Amino acid sequence: MSKSAENKKTNMAGKVLIYGASGGIGEATARLLNERGFDLHLTGRSREKVAAVADEVGAGYTVGDIAEEDYFRRTAEEAGNSLEGLVYAVGTINLKPMRRLNADDFLEDFKINAMGAALAVQASATALKNSTAETGSVVLYSSIAARQGFTFHTSIGMAKGAINGLTYSLAAELAPNVRVNAIAPSLTDTPLAASIVANRQMADSIAGLHPIPRLGSADEIASMTAFLISEDSGWMTGQIIGVDGGRSTLRTSG
Ligand SMILES: NC(=O)c1ccc[n+]([C@@H]2O[C@H](COP(=O)([O-])OP(=O)(O)OC[C@H]3O[C@@H](n4cnc5c(N)ncnc54)[C@H](OP(=O)(O)O)[C@@H]3O)[C@@H](O)[C@H]2O)c1
Repeated sequence: MSKSAENKKTNMAGKVLIYGASGGIGEATARLLNERGFDLHLTGRSREKVAAVADEVGAGYTVGDIAEEDYFRRTAEEAGNSLEGLVYAVGTINLKPMRRLNADDFLEDFKINAMGAALAVQASATALKNSTAETGSVVLYSSIAARQGFTFHTSIGMAKGAINGLTYSLAAELAPNVRVNAIAPSLTDTPLAASIVANRQMADSIAGLHPIPRLGSADEIASMTAFLISEDSGWMTGQIIGVDGGRSTLRTSG
């Protein structure tokens, strides 16, 4: 009997580790996966914020910053030795003209967005291979800015380009036991985007650049995340999926 058939028979829900569950997309994903019966382990920098989400969804949690030396080992240990999924919803946005970026800006964006994702998967690789589902599933977050050039996005575009390379490489190396996919959103209304969408005029003007003329919502990105975690996407690995109102591929005027 396949692992998934066994699980359906015994009604076993797998565990998913969500990094950045105190953020917009991480929190929406935690709620959705909880509704779908997954057991969860969450992370966040602020104990208060992550504990509030964990209480709501009945999850365990780890508090810390990715800059801490033993953060990923500690989180992986606390999350347990079998994981059905890992979601790395940690990120930054640091939009500046090229001339104002310094080495620390580039390194910080790279470490938080890309290197952290690699270390998170490395620390939990064995647990993902022990998944009770047919495969373990990793979901990372790229960006529309890794596929299309935007002014002031030099540092984040570079860091998210690294996520694309990481997704392909890990998906090859961890197949067939673990699937690895990434979502590449356009501007989505979360705390990360708050400084950009705070100005209504700016938010409306960016919304209008999308063939579906609005910003994304955290729930829409969470839906795609839940699909990629679930066995409904069991034959998908090594994919970068745009959830972007059509902005990365379509031109509807001019
Ligand atoms: N929103 C968008 O428009 C958009 C577009 C493209 C890609 N994405 C990507 O989607 C993912 C989720 O973004 P989001 O919009 O949900 O962002 P968000 O609301 O700002 O959440 C980001 C999460 O990352 C955590 N975090 C940030 N720096 C950290 C650090 N040094 N150590 C540990 N945790 C840290 C935050 O913790 P705190 O709560 O403590 O700050 C928060 O939980 C990110 O990878 C982002 O780059 C978002």
